[in-house]
Amino acid sequence: MRMYDIIKKKRDGGTLTAEEIRFWIEGYVRGEIPDYQVSALCMAIYYRGMNASETTDLTLAIRDSGDRLDFSAIHGVRVDKHSTGGVGDKTSLVVAPIVACLGARVAKMSGRGLGHTGGTIDKLESIAGFRTDIGGEEFIRIVNENGIAIVGQTASLAPADKLLYALRDVTATVDSMPLIASSIMGKKLAADDDCIVLDVKTGSGAFMKTVEESRALAELMVEIGCRAGKKMRALITDMDRPLGAAIGNSLEVIEAIETLKGDGPADLTEVCLALATHMLVISGHGDEETCRADIRRVIENGEALATFARMVGVQGGAPAWIYDTGLFPKAAYTYTVSAPRDGYITRADAEGYGIASLLLGAGRNTKEDKIDYAAGIRLAAKTGDYVRKGDPLATLYANDERLFAPAEARLLAATEIGAELPAARPLILDIVE
Ligand code: URA
Repeated sequence: MRMYDIIKKKRDGGTLTAEEIRFWIEGYVRGEIPDYQVSALCMAIYYRGMNASETTDLTLAIRDSGDRLDFSAIHGVRVDKHSTGGVGDKTSLVVAPIVACLGARVAKMSGRGLGHTGGTIDKLESIAGFRTDIGGEEFIRIVNENGIAIVGQTASLAPADKLLYALRDVTATVDSMPLIASSIMGKKLAADDDCIVLDVKTGSGAFMKTVEESRALAELMVEIGCRAGKKMRALITDMDRPLGAAIGNSLEVIEAIETLKGDGPADLTEVCLALATHMLVISGHGDEETCRADIRRVIENGEALATFARMVGVQGGAPAWIYDTGLFPKAAYTYTVSAPRDGYITRADAEGYGIASLLLGAGRNTKEDKIDYAAGIRLAAKTGDYVRKGDPLATLYANDERLFAPAEARLLAATEIGAELPAARPLILDIVE
């Protein structure tokens, strides 16, 4: 078998066999197939797609590319949540401690930023000392003792995805349904959770731009998961505008902390409550009403925040940062973007905002790039707000003043201001069970 023929077959619209997919994935992980051939194949898949059976074969090849984890030593129901990626999406930082302090076990493996979207691991690493490289028995011990651990994918878990994820990030091949479904479900099937809630983002800041595409992705992933014996649910949530007000790593951790205290932005709070509720419902905690009431209680009485602070301490960070967010290092420079005219914000294109944040240093342009944890954006106005010319739209944070001009231009290009109040769009657009 030759990689060249596999690329050509997909380029010309053919259907790959399970053997061809395994040849590609296994050869890539062994280092025998170079990045440039895999980039070409990913681009061919981006244009030609894959049918459900190819996507399942790719998912299983990714799952089998490394170790299958055994979480049976974890006491209790193991529940996970995975987002398809968005801008300002810090929901994992909020929902994981909430469900853990209500008795579910969260043995969570998260990813890094991808394309214009952020990643939970990058966000957590903005807390000095926070270790995300915990695996094996230590990981299981921490989950048993503390109810929660959030770590990066270990090198041995779905290594094919680790390689593909980094490659797709810099070759414009992220937003492909089969590549996203197999990436997410390959990892999820290699881990050993009982229940998984997927947050499938939809809109300009998501990899799937329309509700129909997002629903198709959700159905595909739910089906792959159910076939593998997992309890699955997917929420389709809005990502046409950034979620919350903060974009960028430490800014997002701070906003997650505010949300855990009950002081978060309304949109972020609503999505987090929905995700946490469904995580608890499918893990058998109770009906929706009971779960919602319990979630409100642990936010109000501080238990959810305390669980987050404990997790930070156990994983090497300083819990004091969680109670005093002024301890997070600040960017050297800030810059206010002002509204160019009076009117309603009719569009705040999430992808554009994500790219603006990337331009400030909050994400990667190449696989080797280092992230500036303090860089990012804090929105002062959101879609539907009325602004007057000169009112602040957003504050930009960077450690290099030269980054402000291109980021401001990108942000303004992504913002539309008009005379009419835009129609409200629900945050939770559908649920796939
Ligand atoms: N999240 C993943 O884990 N993989 C993707 O391809 C996109 C989002």
